[in-house]
Amino acid sequence: MSLVCLGVSGGIGAYKAVEVARLLQKRGHEVQAVMTRSARKFVGPVTFEAITRRPVITGQFAPGLNSNVEHIALASGADLLLVAPATANIIGKFANGIADDFLTSLHLATRAPILMAPAMNTNMWEHPAVQENMRRLTARGVRFVDPGEGYLACGWIGKGRLAEPEAIAAAADRLLRPAQTLVGQRVLVTAGPTYEDLDPVRYIGNRSSGRMGFAIADAAVARGAEVRLVVGPTSVAPPAGMNEVAHVRSASEMHAAVMAWRDWASVIVMAAAVADYTPAEGTADAKIAKGGPMTMPLVRTRDILMELGAARGDERRPLLVGFAAETSDAVSKAQEKLARKHVDLIVANDVTAPGAGFDVETNQVALVSAGGVRELPLLPKREVADAILDRVQDLIGAERARVASRR
Ligand code: CTP
Repeated sequence: MSLVCLGVSGGIGAYKAVEVARLLQKRGHEVQAVMTRSARKFVGPVTFEAITRRPVITGQFAPGLNSNVEHIALASGADLLLVAPATANIIGKFANGIADDFLTSLHLATRAPILMAPAMNTNMWEHPAVQENMRRLTARGVRFVDPGEGYLACGWIGKGRLAEPEAIAAAADRLLRPAQTLVGQRVLVTAGPTYEDLDPVRYIGNRSSGRMGFAIADAAVARGAEVRLVVGPTSVAPPAGMNEVAHVRSASEMHAAVMAWRDWASVIVMAAAVADYTPAEGTADAKIAKGGPMTMPLVRTRDILMELGAARGDERRPLLVGFAAETSDAVSKAQEKLARKHVDLIVANDVTAPGAGFDVETNQVALVSAGGVRELPLLPKREVADAILDRVQDLIGAERARVASRR
């Protein structure tokens, strides 16, 4: 059973949110209604209380029923924040990080997925400010249930009517219960940079945060896979729900960790930005004192992905996914890498593209496999992860069919 925070903002569609609450409960979820001040002009909190059997939260500072349910506690307990109807005003506040009431504070405090069902007049819906706000929220991972077309309460005909409660409840359900399409798969994901220590205080590193690998690991858990994570040094916390996590620092430590788990894995995703070079002499015992210009010989690290590809032989187990971070010609270089490293899928990204690459929440990639190239738009990393796993599932299916046809 999941806890859905149902934010109700002030639109004529607020009455339909009562039906959304009922449908969510029918699907087995707990519902905690949170009403904005203007929502209460359309529907009374008692209606939601009767349906949800929970006190409705109506204000940040209201005494009595609200005093023991403050936004931080609810924020950490929620599995989904659903806003229906979402007015242009609440969309604008979310987009700009404004926190001037309970619902907007909850939005900033929660890590739960966010789903919004907008409802407003057609012109408001089409206004560049609203569209821009929605694009910003989309880039942060917020999902939307688009409004329907038809007669609007204001007398207009057009787009802007709150989506049907059934559609909203189904969209919420999909976010709460992703299809368990990777049950039985053992997915090994590497994430983050590696550091090659020069001496006790200095290292050669790179700007990877680990977010892309973490998003893939998280998405694989949500699809029912067993997941092990090998993480390089990063300040970003790995997602919850991993079967095992190995923390490593250097490329050679990452190599050892991956090889130790290779036979366990049915899928390996090398999202880590592994250093290609390390000091030839190893790490100096003492801090290297500065002098004149300095030259330090470096040697190549072992290419983990290449070794995994070479070790597989004809059978494509584990399925191998590599990344190619490029600053130009990402797709053609990925195609070359796909063949040279004997892997099944390369996720190519041009790290110079705006919003893509290191240390941002979004990414723009192309999925390159023997079957062809699929260019994806700029998306939150979690959605990129889902697209990668969709492709992985296709490849697992194709491999199963290939093995079966040879028997
Ligand atoms: N990789 C690896 N072991 C290394 C280096 C890279 O397993 N020692 C993996 C990365 O995790 C990534 C892919 O190989 O999945 C990147 O391939 P690589 O050829 O290293 O590409 P880049 O370093 O991005 O580019 P270049 O070929 O220009 O070095």
